[in-house]
Amino acid sequence: MAPQATGTPLRIGVLGCGDIAWRHTLPAMVRVPDVAPAAVASRDLAKAERFAAEYGGVPVEGYENLLARADVDAVYIALPAGLHHEWALRALKAGKHVLVEKPVTTTLAEAEDLVATAEKCGRWLMDGFMFLHHSQHAAVRALLDEGAIGEPRMFSCAFGIPPRPAGDVRYQADLGGGALLDVGVYTVRAAQLFLGDDLSVVGSMLQRDEERGIDLGGNALLCSGDGVPAELSFSFRSGYRSMYAIWGSKGRLSLHRAFTPPATLRPMVRVTRQSGTEEISLAADDQFGNMLRAFARAARGETEFGPYRDTVLHHMGLIDEIRSRARWV
Ligand SMILES: NC(=O)c1ccc[n+]([C@@H]2O[C@H](COP(=O)([O-])OP(=O)(O)OC[C@H]3O[C@@H](n4cnc5c(N)ncnc54)[C@H](OP(=O)(O)O)[C@@H]3O)[C@@H](O)[C@H]2O)c1
Repeated sequence: MAPQATGTPLRIGVLGCGDIAWRHTLPAMVRVPDVAPAAVASRDLAKAERFAAEYGGVPVEGYENLLARADVDAVYIALPAGLHHEWALRALKAGKHVLVEKPVTTTLAEAEDLVATAEKCGRWLMDGFMFLHHSQHAAVRALLDEGAIGEPRMFSCAFGIPPRPAGDVRYQADLGGGALLDVGVYTVRAAQLFLGDDLSVVGSMLQRDEERGIDLGGNALLCSGDGVPAELSFSFRSGYRSMYAIWGSKGRLSLHRAFTPPATLRPMVRVTRQSGTEEISLAADDQFGNMLRAFARAARGETEFGPYRDTVLHHMGLIDEIRSRARWV
């Protein structure tokens, strides 16, 4: 398959008619001209028909049947984490570019397999960390670069959500459940964004849910190559929290709604120095739409895969290490 031609929308097939696809990703596919929903697959045809009636595309019964379609250039995989590797692999081998929801896989070995397959097949593999595509993080980076808080000395980050309904896929061990893979991964990716790709794990703890065989939350301490620590917290059993803060030699800054800002929200960065606290209002931004535009650019061959690949593999390596070194409580 040749790279996508400029000006032609990337025709995306959706695997799995779930919550995130319905509430966020499909609406974004409809409003972003660079992409178009081409087909929607479910295990249940009636569900696919309901999604297609709302957002367009051909309803398809069974994920396999969607991968066989010649009118689909790329897929968006919105399945539980434990199914990402299997279906991303099949999609790449079927010649499709792949946008797979976070986490890309549940282990580093699976991520390595996908990356190698993407390179062999000449297709893009992108993970669905929408937050990376919001301009608020570049604004924070610009504040750091202009010395707003001096030299960064510590990064801290938290993402937690209240308990979900009992049958939620996030509670099912065989589907890749657990807080580390669902919300913890955001905190790790945010640490990579600000501290770079030479982070290592100093220590971690995970809270065990014996009955379900998953973790319900935890903490990790990471350290950058030049000695800046990252304190990460994640939870399935707390009030909602989605933030990071950077403590520097001359002050500190914090950003709330770091991972899930609605497209209409004007984010606020709070900067505190000896002279007082300043609240800086940033522009609203559409992180779902931006991510789809970035995916379309990648499919057109306008983005280099190498640096992205290294970040994804570093990410899953850190997740493996947080899990393998954890003290379980
Ligand atoms: N980037 C973000 O902001 C964000 C936010 C929330 C979630 N996510 C990620 O998106 C993915 C889906 O999350 P979600 O909240 O949309 O989940 P969900 O509502 O439970 O949807 C998952 C879909 O997967 C399909 N599926 C296939 N096998 C299944 C099985 N054995 N059990 C249950 N469902 C199965 C189902 O679609 P069919 O019945 O149609 O086949 C189901 O609707 C996860 O990887 C999650 O981490 C990302």
